[in-house]
Amino acid sequence: MRITEIKPGIHYVGVNDRVKTRFEALWSLPFGVSYNSYLVADEKVALIDTVEEGFGSRFFHNIHEAIGDRKIDYLVVNHMEPDHSSSISALKRLYPEIKIVGNAKTLQMIGGYYGIEADTVEIREGESLSLGNRTLTFYMAPMVHWPETMVTYCPEQKTLFTGDAFGTFGALDGGILDRQLELGHFWDEMIRYYACIVGKYGVPVQKALQKIRTLEIETICSTHGPVWEEEKERVIALYDRLSRYQGEPGAVIAYGSMYGNTEQMAEHIARNLAERGVRPIRMYNLSSADPSVVLRDVFKYDTLVVGSPTYNGDLFPEVEALLRKIEARGIPQRTFAAFGSFTWASAAVKHLREFAEKLKWTMCCEPLEMKQGFDGRYDDACDRLADAVAARWSDCGTGN
Ligand SMILES: Cc1cc2nc3c(=O)[nH]c(=O)nc-3n(C[C@H](O)[C@H](O)[C@H](O)COP(=O)(O)O)c2cc1C
Ligand SMILES: [Fe+2]
Ligand SMILES: [Fe+2]
Repeated sequence: MRITEIKPGIHYVGVNDRVKTRFEALWSLPFGVSYNSYLVADEKVALIDTVEEGFGSRFFHNIHEAIGDRKIDYLVVNHMEPDHSSSISALKRLYPEIKIVGNAKTLQMIGGYYGIEADTVEIREGESLSLGNRTLTFYMAPMVHWPETMVTYCPEQKTLFTGDAFGTFGALDGGILDRQLELGHFWDEMIRYYACIVGKYGVPVQKALQKIRTLEIETICSTHGPVWEEEKERVIALYDRLSRYQGEPGAVIAYGSMYGNTEQMAEHIARNLAERGVRPIRMYNLSSADPSVVLRDVFKYDTLVVGSPTYNGDLFPEVEALLRKIEARGIPQRTFAAFGSFTWASAAVKHLREFAEKLKWTMCCEPLEMKQGFDGRYDDACDRLADAVAARWSDCGTGN
């Protein structure tokens, strides 16, 4: 049996993209990305989602390899974002009799994006489509991370097709199922994918998880990254934790610095935290760090320390950019401390305080402020900041 037949009658027909440098024109792709699509071949044949249109010919080749000249009866669209839907027009030309199955919102979008109105089947929550021996049942998962998103369940094979949910960045190098792959980097890539793409939608993800928990699941088929079987419990637990915005023990120190003074203060604070047992500590100079990696670690860890110079009466722009990303995702709380610098008229610290107030985060101590160059004058203040962070750390039972 070919590795692409992931279960009897269920074929993987997705593709790997190692060309694109930025997903959604924003997020870096150091390990590439896969666009996963699945064929369920029974008396009738259903395709579940498609791939990015630039990979259309490979995709159609994969389909032909799986089912030869058989026709495809249905295309189920779990998610309309064009990384999964932009091959639909070409698919319709190759398989003119195919019926497109989706909810009302999906079908409206298919009209709006591709001008396709005919041969559609509108389905609602809990409805099923029989393929012969296998059934597909549809459950809505709105705002994970678009309004039309849904999941498709095949009870006979205990397989759930989840759209982007449980997806990761990272191409599939050879294997398809989790047990066929070395999973190392996929765990951090799952958090990075979640933080960047889905991070705003914790409440909808929790609602979707509640529905999913009622189903008996052996196999999770997402639209990006490995197919999950052996690790499915770990994947669901990770999504549960991320969508409750719970960080694991660890501190991110994210700062900007034009001439190194704010950076020296960041180094000093990091040393102090390390001395107090804080582990791990991840430091990011925001001018050179990959924003998606910083955001990943803000989701991953429970402590955030931010430092900014004053820049034209405001925050340093790269610090501002990180804070906006955090605000946009509505992260409810981190153990938070801040420090800032200025030369003639302070502003950074005020804005860091406003950020915390706006998000209703409590700061674990007053922001530390530095005027002009960094030197031993700030040692005591750095100690106090580290004491306050480390005290929170041990209060939460996270320290060692
Ligand atoms: C383009 C530019 C704009 C700045 N605007 C301000 C300002 O509005 N108010 C102020 O007090 N300092 C201002 N500064 C001085 C910086 O705040 C100061 O260089 C910095 O806080 C020192 O930390 P650093 O060595 O980490 O860059 C500015 C500096 C630059 C280069
Ligand atoms: Fe998406
Ligand atoms: Fe996607």
